[in-house]
Amino acid sequence: MSQSHAAAILPQRGGPLSVGKRATPEPGPGELLIEVKAVALNPVDYYQRDFGMPPVPVYPAVLGSDTAGIVVKVGSEVPSGPAPGTRVIAFATSFYQAGSPDYGAFQKYVLTQSEGVIPLPDGLSFEQGAVFPLAVMTALTAWSTVGISLDTKYSAQDKQAVLIWGGASSIGTFSIQSAKTLGFTVYATASPKHHEYLKELGAHAVFDYKKSDVVREIVDAVKKDGLTLTTAHCVVNDSLQPTLDVLKETKGNAVAKVAHSPMLPEGHPTLENTEITFNFPSMDKTVRDKHMYKCFHGWLQEGLKSGSVVPSPVQQVESGGLEGLNSALDKLRAGVSGTKIIVPI
Ligand SMILES: NC(=O)c1ccc[n+]([C@@H]2O[C@H](COP(=O)([O-])OP(=O)(O)OC[C@H]3O[C@@H](n4cnc5c(N)ncnc54)[C@H](OP(=O)(O)O)[C@@H]3O)[C@@H](O)[C@H]2O)c1
Repeated sequence: MSQSHAAAILPQRGGPLSVGKRATPEPGPGELLIEVKAVALNPVDYYQRDFGMPPVPVYPAVLGSDTAGIVVKVGSEVPSGPAPGTRVIAFATSFYQAGSPDYGAFQKYVLTQSEGVIPLPDGLSFEQGAVFPLAVMTALTAWSTVGISLDTKYSAQDKQAVLIWGGASSIGTFSIQSAKTLGFTVYATASPKHHEYLKELGAHAVFDYKKSDVVREIVDAVKKDGLTLTTAHCVVNDSLQPTLDVLKETKGNAVAKVAHSPMLPEGHPTLENTEITFNFPSMDKTVRDKHMYKCFHGWLQEGLKSGSVVPSPVQQVESGGLEGLNSALDKLRAGVSGTKIIVPI
């Protein structure tokens, strides 16, 4: 293996990324070194490139969270870790490593923590494998945020419904898949062209969020189905007010709980007896690592094995490798509809 490798480096706030060489690091305890074969893009990547937000603690930086690749080296204290040569899905957690560029996805070799690395099933390509990490972690963290354990298994008798506002987004699709495995009856919103796809992923009913009476439609459907709806995940911007409008009519006297994935805007709307919480993993490393392990080695690995979890949403593969990341990020910034942008590396 070479002692240095190619990386898409963010030299300063405002970008652009520029391809250069970096020293290839050695994995420490609990870590693996991965040869990156594909990366997926997330909104946070262009926010950090273009606005330095959320704050980028170290420049030059290497951005990116989502990779699939091949294990090159395994550090100590990775008891049952995948051996060198194994194809893996790997979460790049620079964000949790004080912004250390060794842990950013947009490079040929990345350091990863073992809690976020699982084997990539034979039937899935690297491009498919890259869709999972941040979206799965965020979708599953939303359940913890509202106090629901990942071991929950509601039955039909429990009559538990959940509202996922922004079902066709990357996180929304895993919010739907995971809500189904927890036993919720899933109500989601999306553009009509995605409704059938989201039902295949596990949604019970999907509503067009652009319709003026969408709130009424959802409330009527929940009432007609005779379910309790007190839990919601606002996955996208501008989803809190309509979500609260639904909950106002479906929660009865219960306390409603809302996980909000975008930053909560200052002075955001509220509702009586309703807890609205920004969806983010614990900042306590021990708690977060344990949760990450459950997300990847538990829910995702078991779901891929059983077939209850599939790559989603539809992959949009962009060419150009590391050199192509700037234009791929520009495409994401311009907006996607029901697709995840992937770049083979
Ligand atoms: N808190 C965290 O830790 C964390 C982590 C990752 C991401 N995030 C945030 O979570 C959000 C979602 O990220 P993502 O990567 O999943 O987004 P994404 O895939 O880029 O979202 C695109 C989708 O959003 C849908 N959408 C846009 N406005 C909508 C609305 N008003 N109602 C319903 N759907 C709407 C569109 O649906 P249609 O195609 O149906 O029109 C589109 O398919 C972003 O704000 C991101 O910054 C937070």
